[in-house]
Amino acid sequence: MSSDPVATSVDVGAVADPNAALAGSRDLRPLRAVVVGAGGMGQWWARTVVESQVAELVGVADLADGMAEASIAQSGAPDPSAVVAGGDGVALARELGADLLINPTVPIAHHPVTVQALHAGIPVLGEKPVTETLPEALSLVAHQEVTGTTFMVSQSRRFFPQVRQLRRFVAEHGPTVLTSAFFELLTDLGGYRAEQAHPLLRDMGIHAFDTARYITGTDPLAVTAQGVNPAWSPYAGDATVSCTFEMEGPEGERSLFAYHGTWNTQGLPTWWNSEWRIAGRTGTATWDGTSAPVLGTEDESETAELAARIAAEDAPEPDQIDASLIECVTALRGGAAPMCEVHENVLSFAMVEAAVASIDRGGVRVEIDELLEEARTEAVAAERDEAARAVLESWGSVREALAAGPRQVSRVE
Ligand SMILES: NC(=O)c1ccc[n+]([C@@H]2O[C@H](COP(=O)([O-])OP(=O)(O)OC[C@H]3O[C@@H](n4cnc5c(N)ncnc54)[C@H](O)[C@@H]3O)[C@@H](O)[C@H]2O)c1
Repeated sequence: MSSDPVATSVDVGAVADPNAALAGSRDLRPLRAVVVGAGGMGQWWARTVVESQVAELVGVADLADGMAEASIAQSGAPDPSAVVAGGDGVALARELGADLLINPTVPIAHHPVTVQALHAGIPVLGEKPVTETLPEALSLVAHQEVTGTTFMVSQSRRFFPQVRQLRRFVAEHGPTVLTSAFFELLTDLGGYRAEQAHPLLRDMGIHAFDTARYITGTDPLAVTAQGVNPAWSPYAGDATVSCTFEMEGPEGERSLFAYHGTWNTQGLPTWWNSEWRIAGRTGTATWDGTSAPVLGTEDESETAELAARIAAEDAPEPDQIDASLIECVTALRGGAAPMCEVHENVLSFAMVEAAVASIDRGGVRVEIDELLEEARTEAVAAERDEAARAVLESWGSVREALAAGPRQVSRVE
């Protein structure tokens, strides 16, 4: 494993095509992966790695007794005794010579586990959200820059073919002026989410915010948000929110993105992906979150052609974490920065934390850049690693550092 200079900066415009990536990976050895965290998501990851053509499951770790063994048992591994169980995920990955550490631990463990792995030179594919707090997220960006080791955040909901189709429609009919995502589902997820502050924003908002950035090709400038927590909510924090983001495109064009989400109602649930309406300059798209998107323009024949194009794109393809793993492995093999590399991802998480700040401050407008700089100050004060602190202090602005992308990433032969 080596760290090479990055040939090109992160291309958020890249259209990840999992089938093409899979075709290119035939005859290459699967990468050796250790999954750290064996809860609900860790178990899904273990099964996904076992089924994948691009990686093999060599180890599973969890702090809780028996969890790693249980995850291996349900993973479908052809020889479960060949998969090693452990408690300390980074120690296990080192011992096994792993090429990749997958980190679906609880959010508060994302920072310590990822920092250790990056300093051990082991690339990390971490679950969303990148960390529990924005200062910790910036710290992880700094540790990526210090080590030159790849760190990708798995945003599984970017990896639906419909999301790619919507992104292409916006590229052809945008820029967007108004985009909305509506999420509605009755849940009682329990676990750490029951006591988490702002669980809906931190657990679900992150998916929609990242998807909105990807579809519209815009980044956030500011947000105004409100939250409520009805008496029947099983969550301690707000599980019903409404946010309006001011967004900016690459040419400085301004647009709005509205997110309304609730875990507190029933009757007409949406899919986990939310329901979308995306209004662009010369076309509007709607998506129910599961079937094909509906694309409309003023020109009837063009609308019919768009519908025919979508209908023709029916080849089955890997999606969600399956596709995210393919994206990560493909980038590691090519020595390139994957889509959702941490520099690119932090603005999605900043949208969450800015909405949280807006609600906590009584619904005031919060500017993303101000919040990022406040978080940098906190990150510098908390950082124990001298090199990472120096990196944090060296950035002209946080926004510029994120846009510059990684200087080095890993290459796995
Ligand atoms: N992409 C998605 O659709 C999706 C869905 C669900 C959860 N997630 C994400 O996956 C992550 C885990 O969620 P979950 O629902 O599986 O949580 P969970 O509580 O069910 O499981 C987390 C596991 O991590 C273990 N753990 C905690 N600290 C650890 C450490 N330092 N080393 C090893 N193990 C450790 C815990 O013992 C627990 O077994 C979260 O970040 C969550 O946001 C993503």
